Amino acid sequence: MGTSLGLIGLGRIGAFHADTLAALDSVDRLVVTDERTELTTTVAAKYGAQTAASITELLDSDIDGVVIAAATPAHAELTLAAARRGIPVFCEKPIASSATESAEVARAIEATGTAVQVGYQRRFDLAFQGAKAAVDNGDLGWLHTVRSTTMDPAPPPMDYIAGSGGLFRDCAVHDFDIVRWITGQEAVSVFATGSNQGDPGFAAVGDVDTAAVVVTMSGGTLAVISNARYNGRGYDCRLEVHGSEDTVAAGWDSGAPLRNVDPNTTFPEGPAHNFFMDRFIDAYRAELSAFVDVVHGDIESPCTVADAVEVAWIAEAATMSLRTGGPVTIAEVRS
Ligand SMILES: NC(=O)c1ccc[n+]([C@@H]2O[C@H](COP(=O)([O-])OP(=O)(O)OC[C@H]3O[C@@H](n4cnc5c(N)ncnc54)[C@H](O)[C@@H]3O)[C@@H](O)[C@H]2O)c1
Repeated sequence: MGTSLGLIGLGRIGAFHADTLAALDSVDRLVVTDERTELTTTVAAKYGAQTAASITELLDSDIDGVVIAAATPAHAELTLAAARRGIPVFCEKPIASSATESAEVARAIEATGTAVQVGYQRRFDLAFQGAKAAVDNGDLGWLHTVRSTTMDPAPPPMDYIAGSGGLFRDCAVHDFDIVRWITGQEAVSVFATGSNQGDPGFAAVGDVDTAAVVVTMSGGTLAVISNARYNGRGYDCRLEVHGSEDTVAAGWDSGAPLRNVDPNTTFPEGPAHNFFMDRFIDAYRAELSAFVDVVHGDIESPCTVADAVEVAWIAEAATMSLRTGGPVTIAEVRS
């Protein structure tokens, strides 16, 4: 069955999603829009897509589903506008700018009964899926420690940082989501710290360019999360899951951006991953293919708004912990 999709937001990830969507056999019509009309024109011309001059025009253009890749502050309103029209939504992470707003929008979306998938693409990566299978099979025994790392080689532009909600809501949310998904446990308390050595623009908007977070999970597993915006060797995204019986690692491929100085060892051979786009190209394709299945009602959303809200509370607790200097419980931020 052919599928007609809308795409809102054509910046870094939106243009990349346009490329992926245009290459999917299951998508036969794409309608695109961005506040920046020059982007709408360029992307539409490149992929043979139809243009819409406004959000309303796009939502009224007889689409089966919509992909929202606009800037974070627009997510909640756009998702709700589509959901209220009964149009299934794929929304990039995070679902809203704060946890409170995420919880509010989640309630409003639930009332519409429309399917919404949130863009946590690591769930579609074969290595991360392998790690989850090992946990689910019981191969690892009980889990004592999960280490999750996300480091960008260079920061996004400062105007992006200003609207991003900070390192925890923008970047660490991928780690928080994968830790919940892999362990099957909920976060109980969060301790976060951070520092700035790069562009003073981070501190100016109350953000940090480097962070470390310890999350205590409901089953007793400790998650140790590491994030940075200036990781010169490349895009570093790795996961280690340590159990009483065994340990698995995801992201330890030849492109892992580490120069191993052990003698007589050549791994990882390189070249190092450049950015999230080359590391997760297959996962982005798989998540958008899954969204087409969600649109047709063939599968339930594989990453729900409820998941995104739980992740948002963890990010909120990390943000508060950075500010107060002490551990923060999820119960505290929820109240
Ligand atoms: N899942 C991932 O790996 C991943 C990676 C990158 C970005 N993201 C998320 O995707 C979103 C976009 O990130 P980006 O890096 O592409 O940012 P970007 O700044 O490059 O692009 C955002 C685009 O949205 C447009 N826009 C903003 N508000 C709009 C509105 N109301 N209507 C129409 N267009 C609007 C802007 O004009 C801009 O072109 C962010 O929320 C970010 O968190 C996710």
